[in-house]
Amino acid sequence: MANDLETLKRETLSALTAAHTQVEWDAVRVSTLGRSGKLTALLRQLGSFSPQERKERGQSLNRLRDELTALIEERGKEIEEEALQQRLQQERVDVTQPPTVPVQGKIHPISRTIEEITTIFSAMNFRVAEGPDVETQWHNFSALNTPAHHPARTEQDTFYLPPEAGKEEARVLRTQTSGVQIRTMLDDGAPVRIIAPGRTYRADHDATHSPMFHQCEGLVVEEGITLGHLKGCLIEFLRVFFNKPELPVRFRASYFPFTEPSMEIDIGWSKTSGEIGAGADWLEVLGAGMVHPRVLANCGLDPQRWQGFAFGMGVERLAMLKNGIPDLRSFYESDLRWLRHYGFSALSPATLTEGF
Ligand code: DAH
Repeated sequence: MANDLETLKRETLSALTAAHTQVEWDAVRVSTLGRSGKLTALLRQLGSFSPQERKERGQSLNRLRDELTALIEERGKEIEEEALQQRLQQERVDVTQPPTVPVQGKIHPISRTIEEITTIFSAMNFRVAEGPDVETQWHNFSALNTPAHHPARTEQDTFYLPPEAGKEEARVLRTQTSGVQIRTMLDDGAPVRIIAPGRTYRADHDATHSPMFHQCEGLVVEEGITLGHLKGCLIEFLRVFFNKPELPVRFRASYFPFTEPSMEIDIGWSKTSGEIGAGADWLEVLGAGMVHPRVLANCGLDPQRWQGFAFGMGVERLAMLKNGIPDLRSFYESDLRWLRHYGFSALSPATLTEGF
C-alpha cells in the first residue's frame, strides 16, 4: 500500500480509538468517508495518475475504503454500547432508598383498616373473596334464609336496579357482604375459609349512617366446626386488631336469619373517655353466628357433614373506634386536611410483626 494510504489508515485508527462519544465518532467518519473526507479526496485524485498506477492505486483505495468503513462501523457500535453502559450506571435507581422528598399521598383509613383486617385473617389462613356490588335478591336475601316478606328485608332497604337480562326479579345494591358467602360456597364447595371486604349500600343517611359503607364478611365451613372455633377466632382477631392482648370480649345472643345461634360481639371500653379495653361499658363491633343449616343446604352442602361460622363487621365503625375518628361522614368528603391528619403513610404497610 502506498505510503499516504498507510498514513491515512493509521491516523483514522488512532482518531477512532480516541473517539468516545457519538459526536467525536461522527467527526472521524465524516472527515474520512464524507464528501470532503480524506479518503474521498484520494479517490478524486485518481484521475491524475497514469492508467497502470490508477488501476493499482484504485484497487488499494477500494480495499482501504472497505476496511475503514468496517472499522468505523465497529467502533460506532462500541461507542453506543459504552454510552448505554454509562447510562445504566448513572441512572440506576435504588428502590430501597427512603425518598428524599416528602411522600405526598396518604392511604385512606378505610383502605388501611381493610388491609389490617386482611392481614390478620391471612395469618389464620383465610383468603380474600369478592362479590359484585350489584347483587341478585336471591344472593343478598333469599339464599341467606331471608324470604321475600321477612322483616329483615325492610330493615335493609336499599336501591333497586332492573333485573338481569332474561330474569324477572329486580337486582339490588347489596345491603351486606353476606351474599359473598353464598357465591363462595356455590363456586368452590367446602371447606371454605374466606373474608370478603367490600362496599355495601342502604337507604340511610344521617350522622351515623351513610348510603354507602363498607363491611367485611367472614365464613368458615369445615367438618366439626363449633362455637368454640368462632369464639377463639374472633377474640384473637379483636385483640390483635386493637392491639390489646387483654381486651374484654363479650358474646351476646342476638338474631340473624342466616345463623343459628346468632350473636353480637361487644368489646370493653369506657363510654366517658372513649378508651378501648378499659372501663365498664360494652360496645358492639361484630355480628356472628353458626351458619344456618338451611344456608348450607341452599348452597348444595350437606349440613349433617359440614358446619361453619360466619361473621360480619362494619369497616367504618372499626376504623372510627381505633383511630378516634368522630364523624362517619368525614370518610367520604375527600377533605385533604382530614386525609393528611387521619391517613396512613404509604411507606409503612400493615404488618403483624410491627403490631398495628
Ligand atoms: N350481614 C349482617 C349485617 O349486615 C352482619 C352479619 C351478622 C354477618 C352475622 C354475618 C353474621 O355473617 O353471621 O348486619
